[in-house]
Amino acid sequence: MSISIFRTLAEWRSIKPASGSIGVVPTMGALHAGHISLVARAHGENQHVVATIYVNPTQFNNASDLAAYPQSFDEDCAMLEQAGCQFVFAPTYETLYPDQYRYRISESEISRVLEGQYRPGHFDGMLTVVLKLLNVVGADVAYFGEKDFQQLLLVREMLHAFHHSTRIVACPTVREADGLAMSSRNRRLNPAQRALATEWSQTLANPSRSCQEVRAQLERLGFRVDYIEDRWGRRLGAVHTPPVDGGAEIRLIDNVPVSV
Ligand code: PAJ
Repeated sequence: MSISIFRTLAEWRSIKPASGSIGVVPTMGALHAGHISLVARAHGENQHVVATIYVNPTQFNNASDLAAYPQSFDEDCAMLEQAGCQFVFAPTYETLYPDQYRYRISESEISRVLEGQYRPGHFDGMLTVVLKLLNVVGADVAYFGEKDFQQLLLVREMLHAFHHSTRIVACPTVREADGLAMSSRNRRLNPAQRALATEWSQTLANPSRSCQEVRAQLERLGFRVDYIEDRWGRRLGAVHTPPVDGGAEIRLIDNVPVSV
C-alpha cells in the first residue's frame, strides 16, 4: 500500500480509518533519522500512523530563516512509508489558517524564557499550529522529540490545559556518531561549520563544566551564544555557528539531562 497524502479535513474524513488507534507525528519536513525514530515508535504503538509536513510560517520570527528552511517532500514521503507511516497531512496556509492567524495560543511563563526570549512569537505560532494539526487529525497519541525540550513541555501542558484528548509521548534525541543532535538545519552547515558543531554538542554535554564555563569555551571557539542554562533537570543551550568559509550563521539548539 502506498502512502496517502491529504491536504484538507474533508479529504481526511473520507479516508480516516474507522477503527484502531492513530498515532501522529507533527513535522516541518526535511526529515532525518530523528524524525523517523518518532514515526517508528508511533508505528510500534498504533495501528495507523499520520505524519504532518508543514513549514509553519507563524513560528518563524525571522523571514530569512523561513526562506532558507530545507524542503524535500518526495524524499520525506519515501522515508515515511519505509518507516510504516500510511498517511501524510500536507496542508496549505489557507487550509490551516482560515482566520489568517487572528486566533492564537499564548502561554505566559515557559514560553517567555530561553528559546522564547530569543525568538519572540515563536512559541505562540508553534502552539497554535500544533493545536490545529492535532484537532484536524484527531489522533489518540502524538509523538514529540526531547530535542526540542521546551516545545515538548509547552505542548504537553497545552494539551492538559485545554482538556485535549490526544496523549503525548516524548522520544529521546537521536544523534550523529559524534554526538551532534540531528536537525534539518544541519544540512546548511559547510564542512568547517560541521566540524565546529561536533565541539558544540560535546562541550554542552560535558558534565564537569558549569554553564558559565561552557559558554566561555563556546565563545573561544567562535560561537555566538544565546543561552546555556540548567532548567527542568536539563542543560539547554542555543548557539550560532561562526560564518566560517563564507557559510551563513546557523543556529543550533540542544539539551542534555543534568543531575542537579
Ligand atoms: P521539526 O523541527 O520538523 O521536528 C518535528 C519533531 O521531530 C519534533 O517533535 C522534534 O522534537 C523531533 N525531532 C527533531 N530532531 C530530532 C532528533 N534529533 N531526535 C529526536 N527527535 C527529533 O518541531 C517542529 O518540527 C515544529 O515545531 C512542529 C512541532 C512540527 C510545529 O510546527
